[in-house]
Amino acid sequence: WRSSPDGHSTTNGNAEKKQPADVNWDELGFSLTPTDYMYVMRCGSGESCFSEGTLLPFGNIEMNPCSTILNYGQGLFEGLKAYRKEDGKLLLFRPEQNALRMIAGADRLCMPSPAVEQFIDAVKQTVLANERWVPPVGKGSMYVRPLLMGTSASLGLGPASEYTFLVYASPVGIYHKGHATLNLVVEEEHHRAIPGGTGGVKTVANYSPVLKALTRAKAKGFSDVLFSDAATGKYVDEASACNLFAVKGMVISTPPDHGTILPGITRKSILEIALALGYQVEERQVSIEEMLDADEVFCTGTAVVVTPVGSITYKGKRTEYGAKVDGVCQKLHTRLTGIQTGQIEDTMGWTVAL
Ligand code: COI
Repeated sequence: WRSSPDGHSTTNGNAEKKQPADVNWDELGFSLTPTDYMYVMRCGSGESCFSEGTLLPFGNIEMNPCSTILNYGQGLFEGLKAYRKEDGKLLLFRPEQNALRMIAGADRLCMPSPAVEQFIDAVKQTVLANERWVPPVGKGSMYVRPLLMGTSASLGLGPASEYTFLVYASPVGIYHKGHATLNLVVEEEHHRAIPGGTGGVKTVANYSPVLKALTRAKAKGFSDVLFSDAATGKYVDEASACNLFAVKGMVISTPPDHGTILPGITRKSILEIALALGYQVEERQVSIEEMLDADEVFCTGTAVVVTPVGSITYKGKRTEYGAKVDGVCQKLHTRLTGIQTGQIEDTMGWTVAL
């Protein structure tokens, strides 16, 4: 079990199993706390595809070393959260959006996908089976991680003939633990996505290519990397695992969902909340220069929620955004998390009670 300073950690499936009573809920970061059960549903050649899933004890899985997920990255993941309300009941946030995004990603990677209802049912079963691991009110949430993987062998390049849909869950706290604001650096060597590539779907293969830039940035004391567009390097795409927004007066701008950014569900929700709160929202190319000139910059994602950016460093020059206690980012964060945790009435119809 290795732990990094920002609260992320790596563990293998055989790590010593804690009990919920052993968890210090005040210290939760974003690392795996193994829970009791995972949900598994298979789509095999010759058998019915994704017809019946089952809950199994959480643990390591066996896979053919020649599987397409391991060899060719034929895999997707999702991330969503379950929250405990004041009355102890649980809420999921927009699970159908994750299901739809997985269906879109599966199409891009030539994989079959569970139907929306199957996806939601699997998520519900996983959360309920692990309910004792959902943090108490105000102490975090349960992060749910659905995976869709090509699990049969294919030595030559081609789609698998068998697939596994697996859902596991872990209690989590703050992603960038210990960092109230993020210090970003514009990455000038690597790009996250290219037009026509897979940046707009949640393939597992989108994430390890950012590690080089991210590790380099962290070694220099930055919290995350800002990736620019591959064509010109002048426009913002996203950070390593979250979307970016710029605020100027009453206008909130974010890069468009045209295939080189992940169509984040938090991103979409924030755009809808901002509109409802009377802001003008713009989904359009945002230049790095414009972002440097913004009143506020923030990032959104299931893991990071809505986190203010404290500075952006570009070509060696650091631009600071002063701490805004009652700023736009703060307002949007309060409204979003209020809905997610049931403290603010959900007039949008986004939450699903368990
Ligand atoms: C999420 O925000 O859910 C993600 O998938 C990002 C991941 C790197 C934690």
